Amino acid sequence: MKGIILAGGKATRLRPLTIVTSKQLLPVYDKPMIFYPLMTLLNAGIKEVLIIVAPEYAGHFLHLLGSGKQFGAKFTYEIQESPRGLADAFIVGEDFLDNSNATLILGDNIFEDNFTEAIRSFKSGGRIFAKKVPDPERLGVVQFDEQNHVLQIVEKPKKWISDYAIPGLYIFDNRVCQFAKEVKPSARGEIEITELHKRYLALGELDVRVIDGQWFDAGTFDSLLAAGKFIAGQKKG
Ligand code: TTP
Repeated sequence: MKGIILAGGKATRLRPLTIVTSKQLLPVYDKPMIFYPLMTLLNAGIKEVLIIVAPEYAGHFLHLLGSGKQFGAKFTYEIQESPRGLADAFIVGEDFLDNSNATLILGDNIFEDNFTEAIRSFKSGGRIFAKKVPDPERLGVVQFDEQNHVLQIVEKPKKWISDYAIPGLYIFDNRVCQFAKEVKPSARGEIEITELHKRYLALGELDVRVIDGQWFDAGTFDSLLAAGKFIAGQKKG
């Protein structure tokens, strides 16, 4: 199993904070944001991590994180020339993955949960997560039936279907690199990760696990502040 952190993007919602720097380098209490998704991967036992960054900030990430040696891991860097969508991580990351399975985490996602068991026990197919949130319409959403089987997955549903959003940590087998190349851009011009979930769902190979811990997608002023307060609260016990 290898890890990928997707830390490019435009971060338009955090302007002017992100005019001269990358969102994933902004502070979340006492650390740059990317430390949190990085620790989620390292804590789960992943030793090889690809960090995908936007061209402008590649040097900053390298300066901050280096080779990975001090973290007991090996870091590789790739540039995403333009933010083509989350599924692009598996196209940019194809050579790095070689034939390995992949855990992708978004560079602005902060999780309380530990994913060691979910990652260690993964064999094949796709494994994603679901978290109950008050505002699912902003996100990819998963609808379950009474037996907890997945009924459907919809990106930013216009009509309510469920309170369960899909957070930014995804585990896929190596077929995902091929599947990502087959995704057609959506109306907003991105290759959507939801299309990969749907692909594995159609194959009957998608496992969706509900998580209960805190989860922040620190991409707005309010969520960035909330994430910082949460981390501060944890530190101070
Ligand atoms: P988003 O928050 O959806 O996009 P963004 O970071 O560009 O922000 P905004 O909507 O405010 O303009 O992205 C989620 C994460 O994925 C974030 O860490 C950036 C990263 N990302 C990429 O690295 N490449 C991409 O092509 C996209 C779409 C996102």
